[in-house]
Amino acid sequence: MHGKNRSGLSYKIAYAIRNPDRISGYARRRGRDAMLWLATRDHVSYYRAVMRADATRSSDGAVGSRSRDSWLRVGQLQFDYLLRHGLTPGMRMLEIGCGNLRAGRLFIDYLDTGNYYGTDISPDILLSAEHTISEFGLQRKLPHLTLIDDLRLEFLPDECFDVVHAHSVFSHSPLSVIEECLAHVGRVMAPAAFFDFTFDRTDGAEHQVLREDFYYQTETLISLARRHGLDACFMPDWEETGHQQSRIRVTRPA
Ligand SMILES: C[S@@+](CC[C@H](N)C(=O)[O-])C[C@H]1O[C@@H](n2cnc3c(N)ncnc32)[C@H](O)[C@@H]1O
Repeated sequence: MHGKNRSGLSYKIAYAIRNPDRISGYARRRGRDAMLWLATRDHVSYYRAVMRADATRSSDGAVGSRSRDSWLRVGQLQFDYLLRHGLTPGMRMLEIGCGNLRAGRLFIDYLDTGNYYGTDISPDILLSAEHTISEFGLQRKLPHLTLIDDLRLEFLPDECFDVVHAHSVFSHSPLSVIEECLAHVGRVMAPAAFFDFTFDRTDGAEHQVLREDFYYQTETLISLARRHGLDACFMPDWEETGHQQSRIRVTRPA
């Protein structure tokens, strides 16, 4: 499953034969994405426009959940995993690409007041995130939500976060965006902090589909983290959750 090249013609033809009902949807998305790419200057502007178009239809859909049930389940999966890995209420957490708080709402509820910082490039999804805060009655936990343009994290102080989390964000990011994050995230991490991110793994050729979905080899991302002075390891127990993406944990060297 991790060796497929989804950008290849033979994969597309085989997929279309297996899923004829999806052909018109794919063609629409391809046309839309081509227009958005022409109208934008860089990946972040492009993806922000994709999120705007998707969130207009459904904010749960924009973060990758086709139903509320799936939205609740995928959020719970992220939360339960970090709980098993030592998340405690006193920790301060940074979520990169928090979306409409699919998992964030659980982190906000669990962490001490003011300890959750969510960031995203999409103003539309951050408005939905505010709606999630009121929907789940989390106002008193005073979560921080910040719109960002890049992943340099310049507005945040040194060594401030115990946990950094990015679920299904690097699966939508070119390597230059991931590298920008890895070049700067170490500064905001406390010495014993960890940064977990998920990614779409391929064991074959690295590729992207519609500039929306990016597939990387594990070693590429681990080497990139090391080049920026961080340790990184593959998290095999995340695969046991049944989620289709893979996970890497980044830490500061002792
Ligand atoms: C698939 S959604 C996942 C949202 C959330 N992490 C979750 O699991 O529900 C990806 C999110 O990452 C955001 N995003 C994409 N690229 C980003 C970047 N370079 N920096 C910050 N956020 C980004 C998108 O706007 C979107 O909200």
